[in-house]
Amino acid sequence: MIRFRRLLAGLLLFLGAGAAGAQGVLLDQGEIDAALLHGPWPPPRTGDPSNRVSGIPEAIELGRILFSSPALSSGGRLSCASCHDPDNGFTDGLETARSHVGRLDRNTQGLFNLAGMRWFGWDGRSDSLWAQSLLPIIRSDEMALDVGQIADALQDGPLRERYEGLFGPADSQAPDRNLANVGKALAAYIETITTGKTPFDRFRDALEAGDLEAAAAYPEDAQRGFRIFAGKGKCTFCHVGPLFSNSEFHDAGVPYFVEPTRVDTGRHGGIEALLGSRFTLRGAFSDDPAKTGAWKVERLVRSHDDFGTFRTPSLRELTRTAPYMHNGSLATLRDVVNHYSTIDLERMHTDGEAILEPLDLSERETADLVAFLESLSTR
Ligand code: HEC
Ligand code: HEC
Repeated sequence: MIRFRRLLAGLLLFLGAGAAGAQGVLLDQGEIDAALLHGPWPPPRTGDPSNRVSGIPEAIELGRILFSSPALSSGGRLSCASCHDPDNGFTDGLETARSHVGRLDRNTQGLFNLAGMRWFGWDGRSDSLWAQSLLPIIRSDEMALDVGQIADALQDGPLRERYEGLFGPADSQAPDRNLANVGKALAAYIETITTGKTPFDRFRDALEAGDLEAAAAYPEDAQRGFRIFAGKGKCTFCHVGPLFSNSEFHDAGVPYFVEPTRVDTGRHGGIEALLGSRFTLRGAFSDDPAKTGAWKVERLVRSHDDFGTFRTPSLRELTRTAPYMHNGSLATLRDVVNHYSTIDLERMHTDGEAILEPLDLSERETADLVAFLESLSTR
């Protein structure tokens, strides 16, 4: 059926181009096929079997309250929302995050559409959303709460009743269990932070339906930008599928020195963290009896190539999550496109990414690629 629809779209495209000529769909059949691979959007909702409260309304509500509650931080100084501001693309707009101890090394990630990701954090230090969600609570450079204090923190007014309703009374003898439960409620909430159809999605849907009139509403500069994205830019090598991310780790040529004498080891450190973590899909806190996904950690091997690689980010909602890259070093989407256009292969720190080479884009091509990237946002 899909195949037939594609043929039909191709045929209509051909006829349309002959008849109308003017403003229309610029893509050829190969490019249309490539566009179809970035949808449909939104993806079907799937629960998280490792999190028994995933999708449960009471857990989503508890997670929402916890997310903006300073009770989970040492001295009541910070909440998740201090850095992940819901009114600001769930980020802070800073190059790198700031907490009571000063600046962190990395850019605060927006929290959109995380349910489909395989690894979390720029370095993929967690293999589940709940494990990633509990980390900032105990990290000394983030909310810095002593894990033993979680049970006390949960006695706080509106939290207590809701927590007990879902998980039973917080047991001060089982701090890791309390922490995992809090992570699961937070994850249940974060799973609901999803975004709707973008101009690109409407274009893609129209192409799939063979509705060229509707497809032609998508601006021509964005269409030309898509051609570069899926063509000579080779961006789809990593930014694949409906999320525009393969959820894997690469060196995109962003310097990984934090200071002249200190590097951000990226995925290398992420693997170390995963191998030492008690909060993984293979561990005791996964609620999935089948331990689905445990293989991800079991198959990990330390490799030199992981140094300075970071998870391919999704490209949805970029207009709300500047600045860009793991260290927030690029302020605008134009800066990102210029980065890929003039990428310095000498600066690449791994051997693996032979795919990237300077694109030498013209001014118009640059503007087109930016227009395409902007069309992946709902506003
Ligand atoms: C001090 C600022 C700060 C606070 C507070 C904070 N975060 Fe973050 N968050 C970050 C930064 C920086 C990253 C990137 C982390 C990394 O790669 O090391 C991040 C990453 C994440 C991610 C991974 C997103 C992805 O795309 O994989 C999740 C989920 C997350 N935070 C949830 C939370 C939750 C839940 C809380 C509260 C319990 C919280 N954060 C508190 C700064 C913060
Ligand atoms: C080899 C895989 C790969 C290719 C090819 C690739 N990217 Fe990326 N992209 C990444 C990775 C990895 C990052 C994060 C790098 C970092 O922070 O150090 C990234 C970051 C980005 C960001 C910033 C997103 C954010 O939230 O910070 C944008 C925008 C982007 N890429 C667009 C593109 C475009 C446009 C192309 C094609 C010209 C492209 N990418 C090609 C892997 C790739």
